[in-house]
Amino acid sequence: LYRKAVAKELPTLLLLGPSGAGKSALLTLFANGTASATHTSQEPQTATCQIPVSTRASEDRYRSENDTSARTQPKFRLIDTPGHGKLRHHATSTLTSAPALKGLLFMVDSAAVSSASGLTEAAEYLHDILLLLQRRHTQGQTSKTPQAIPVLVLANKQDVFTSLPASIVKTKLEEEIAKVRQTRSKGLLDSGIGMEGEGADEEGNWLGEFGAEQFRFAQMQEHGVEVDVVGGNVKGEGEEGGRVDGWWEWVGENL
Ligand code: GTP
Repeated sequence: LYRKAVAKELPTLLLLGPSGAGKSALLTLFANGTASATHTSQEPQTATCQIPVSTRASEDRYRSENDTSARTQPKFRLIDTPGHGKLRHHATSTLTSAPALKGLLFMVDSAAVSSASGLTEAAEYLHDILLLLQRRHTQGQTSKTPQAIPVLVLANKQDVFTSLPASIVKTKLEEEIAKVRQTRSKGLLDSGIGMEGEGADEEGNWLGEFGAEQFRFAQMQEHGVEVDVVGGNVKGEGEEGGRVDGWWEWVGENL
């Protein structure tokens, strides 16, 4: 009788990353199958997307190859947030409030991260987002546990010839996040924040393995955050268009 009232919340993925990375282009591609013209976003945008038939969804994992019964490809809600530094509160508030949040898609422009300023911008943003997830996980251990939220770093614009390959984007981000982490903790020490309670907060403000000199995304596993870096491009030369299979695969596995 009451079944209708409890409309099932669609699983949600949150799309974020620096301005100009290609988030809005991905949203239109995932929602409509084609990437249309975009402009700088001021407000979050939401679209309902469906995994293409070519991508196996996680619930299909145990399906026999001979199973010919119709399968419905899962749907999800994708929320695109503006990348501009002053508008990032949209991303952080969605992150803490979105119901049925299943994962984060953090998009970077693989050509932009080859410049020092582009790399720093992406790494600072990603550091802060990962720290939010880490805290969420820490707090979840004492309260009602919010489930672990995996992160896909989309190394976009692989069609651009100055782009770094995904594996290099990964190591560059890790190295730069290590620097951000160092700077942030030094800032806290200098300002005296977190000094009460025998440095208890110092650890709470440190991303990944506490005190480690190097940062690796793998350190996030201990904090319940799985990070993958996968390359692709929303747009491409000529007929072939974009290359987004690797991203769809991740979405299929994590919904
Ligand atoms: P904000 O709205 O400011 O946060 O930016 P955004 O991340 O939404 O970027 P947007 O989707 O507006 O894309 C920025 C520019 O990059 C646009 O001109 C896109 O056409 C272009 N672009 C997106 N993806 C690709 C890609 O894979 N390859 C190339 N060459 N260009 C791309």
